Amino acid sequence: MEITRKSAAEIDKMRIAGRIVAEVLALVEESLAPGISTADVDRLAERHIRGAGGVPSFLGYLGGRRYDMSHPHAYKATTCVSIDHEIVHGIPGNREIKRGQVVSVDVGVIYDGWNGDGARSFICGGREAGTPEALGLLDATRLALMAGIAAAQAGALVGDIGAAVEAVGQEGGYGIVRGYGGHGIGQAMHEDPSVLNFANDYPDARVRLEPGMCLAIEPMFMTGGEKTRTLKDGWTVVTADRSLAAHFEHTITIHPEGPEILTKV
Ligand code: MF3
Ligand code: CO
Repeated sequence: MEITRKSAAEIDKMRIAGRIVAEVLALVEESLAPGISTADVDRLAERHIRGAGGVPSFLGYLGGRRYDMSHPHAYKATTCVSIDHEIVHGIPGNREIKRGQVVSVDVGVIYDGWNGDGARSFICGGREAGTPEALGLLDATRLALMAGIAAAQAGALVGDIGAAVEAVGQEGGYGIVRGYGGHGIGQAMHEDPSVLNFANDYPDARVRLEPGMCLAIEPMFMTGGEKTRTLKDGWTVVTADRSLAAHFEHTITIHPEGPEILTKV
């Protein structure tokens, strides 16, 4: 395990990457009217990122620090757009989004070599178009992200973040995605430590948080059981029982006084 602490100048760059991420998510929220396609969402994200001087970090991504746009297994879009029972890693295409659907949008940006990563779930057509079940799920997942961030204090353990997220999920009776979670972030999108969304005893969970560490925290909750599967496209992760899923993610850094959200406008 190699965990780096970032300098103030490096965090300045991650703050810019994070601001671009937040701008994209705000733009998506405004644009998410019924009939828009998932490819439209991806195009407006890519245009905004490049216009702001960033590079989409998901394009050509193969895992770790490997990128190769020509590789058959590489991710070929700027965003992940996951609808209803899709949890994460939905691939944009010519699918139309319908009023009331739960739409989870994940986006990563590299600015001058430094990464920002964020995600939000929306209701297509706005909150008034959402069912009470969908709105409850979104609110609980967002609340869990905030609880995870609040737990990310210098001197606490990485595992405290997962425990805080898990407590919110259990309180609401939601399923918690166990196979995917947050991560360290910096010059690579995915760095050590792994930040799981539940209390656990793995070595990464025992890492003590220190100023300068940067993490992506990203709870994923579902209204049904916890079983997930991956579609034949090799990417899209769905709930096995087709229950609804939501995903909220922020990139944060740790200061002596507390956590700072980097993915904000
Ligand atoms: N942003 C996702 C995460 O939060 C990773 C997306 S995988 C990619 O860790 F292939 F789409 F890039
Ligand atoms: Co992430």
